[in-house]
Amino acid sequence: MAYQIIDHPLIQHKLSILRDKDTSVRDFRDLSAEISMLMAFEAMRDLELEEAQVETPVATATVRRLAGKKLALVAILRAGLIMVEGILDLIPSARVGHVGLYRDPETLEPVSYYAKLPGDIAERDTFLLDPMLATGGSAVAAIDRLKDEGAHHIRLLCILAAPEGVAVVEKAHPDVQIVLAALDERLNDHGYIVPGLGDAGDRIYGTR
Ligand code: PRP
Ligand code: URA
Repeated sequence: MAYQIIDHPLIQHKLSILRDKDTSVRDFRDLSAEISMLMAFEAMRDLELEEAQVETPVATATVRRLAGKKLALVAILRAGLIMVEGILDLIPSARVGHVGLYRDPETLEPVSYYAKLPGDIAERDTFLLDPMLATGGSAVAAIDRLKDEGAHHIRLLCILAAPEGVAVVEKAHPDVQIVLAALDERLNDHGYIVPGLGDAGDRIYGTR
């Protein structure tokens, strides 16, 4: 399945500030949440609607509202948490799951340390959230885990990706749609996205 880049001017403007090495932790956090909300707004364009009747103070209106398809947001820890925060402002009733993974700094392989997912994830449209898709190892491991639990309609939302990571996810999970704010040039020798924005977790939580 193809990837999609959400090329909205507001997202691109906010991303330009996010990339800047001098952006403060506080601004980085706020911008990450805002970009995530805007990305989700676009990514949810195809949610099903159903007709209903509502009594306005004047008359009966035929309205369209969400058809009640259940959603799940799943954060890849740590950095995906900030995306959940932004998207919950749009869909407060979504269920939230967490998958704990970190990259071994030497091998760049994902190491799993936690998972807690909604019990009915198989019935939900699932948005897997991580700001960074670098080698693709973490995303593939998280999707493997989601599928083990029965999830089958999965979208992966990442703010930035390297072409290498997109290719790895597409190969391992061709059914998963990837939604991005930008696709960067490449990975460097340390597995960082170039030009990228650095270490997303450290910049969100001020841990470096
Ligand atoms: C970052 C990022 C992704 C992963 C991407 O997390 O948030 O989860 O790296 O890299 P990959 O595509 O090569 O797997 P990190 O491992 O730094 O963990 P952290 O969020 O806990 O700091
Ligand atoms: N993880 C990050 O946070 N940044 C990168 O550039 C690559 C992996």
